[in-house]
Amino acid sequence: MKIGFFGAGHMGSAMIQGFINSGEVSPTDILVKGGRSQTAANRQKEMGFTLIDDLHDIAEAELLIVAVNPSAVLPILKALPTSVTDKKIPLVSVAAGVNLPEMADVLGDEYPLAHCIPNTPVQVNEGLLGISYGEQLSSADKDTIDQALKILGSLVEIDEPLLGIVGSVAGCGPAFVDLFIEALSDAGVLYGLNRELSYQIAEQMIKGAAELALQSKKHPGELKDGVATPGGTTIKGVVALEKHGFRNAVIEGVKGTME
Ligand SMILES: NC(=O)c1ccc[n+]([C@@H]2O[C@H](COP(=O)([O-])OP(=O)(O)OC[C@H]3O[C@@H](n4cnc5c(N)ncnc54)[C@H](OP(=O)(O)O)[C@@H]3O)[C@@H](O)[C@H]2O)c1
Repeated sequence: MKIGFFGAGHMGSAMIQGFINSGEVSPTDILVKGGRSQTAANRQKEMGFTLIDDLHDIAEAELLIVAVNPSAVLPILKALPTSVTDKKIPLVSVAAGVNLPEMADVLGDEYPLAHCIPNTPVQVNEGLLGISYGEQLSSADKDTIDQALKILGSLVEIDEPLLGIVGSVAGCGPAFVDLFIEALSDAGVLYGLNRELSYQIAEQMIKGAAELALQSKKHPGELKDGVATPGGTTIKGVVALEKHGFRNAVIEGVKGTME
């Protein structure tokens, strides 16, 4: 499948990396139109995708992904050549804050559109991608979009007004988890683990706990209770975390992203 990208910044290149890692998309089948700086050209040297200059070349793609700063989305849609718009190549924007009605105002109600908020684990094919589909999307175009994006992780359909909170929990969440990894590792080092081992233990623990929650489908409270022996060390740690406002700190963190 040929996939056209506008933008190969942080999110664009994370998605490109995921497609390449999967082995399901050849690097040269990823066509990228970059911005004004050398970002895309630099990434091209590392990743081997096809860098394009002439916008008409992107019409070879079967799917278009717009991964640019929100302010650049509508100008890009306005500048799409007729070779793209006539073919009605399905287009997915991953930009926060530019919604489907705004995009349809530019491209017309009939144009196949989707709005997706991915997170950075797409680069290791473990992403969470919230997605809202345009009303006029045919099942064939929806299949094209889903088939490609499922390569990058789990696709969750959601009403567009809720994409913002998906972006906060799933899109900003990796940064929160990274802080948690650092904090746990600091504690490990405090009690004598070497730094590298401490990171490895914290990272694998978080991966395993998430996998157990996903596979068992048990309530997180039940899983927590399964670790907390009555009168034991875990419950003492839980009490200490709650005393320091752990749960509230996390909720405030998400609220901070929504302001
Ligand atoms: N980062 C995340 O975790 C995340 C999560 C969900 C959604 N998003 C969304 O993804 C989008 C990109 O975010 P980012 O973090 O990847 O930002 P970024 O690193 O700044 O990348 C944006 C890229 O867009 C390129 N660009 C700007 N105007 C362009 C144009 N007219 N044509 C082609 N390329 C153009 C820029 O190229 P130059 O460098 O050459 O200027 C830049 O490399 C944003 O809308 C954001 O809301 C990001």
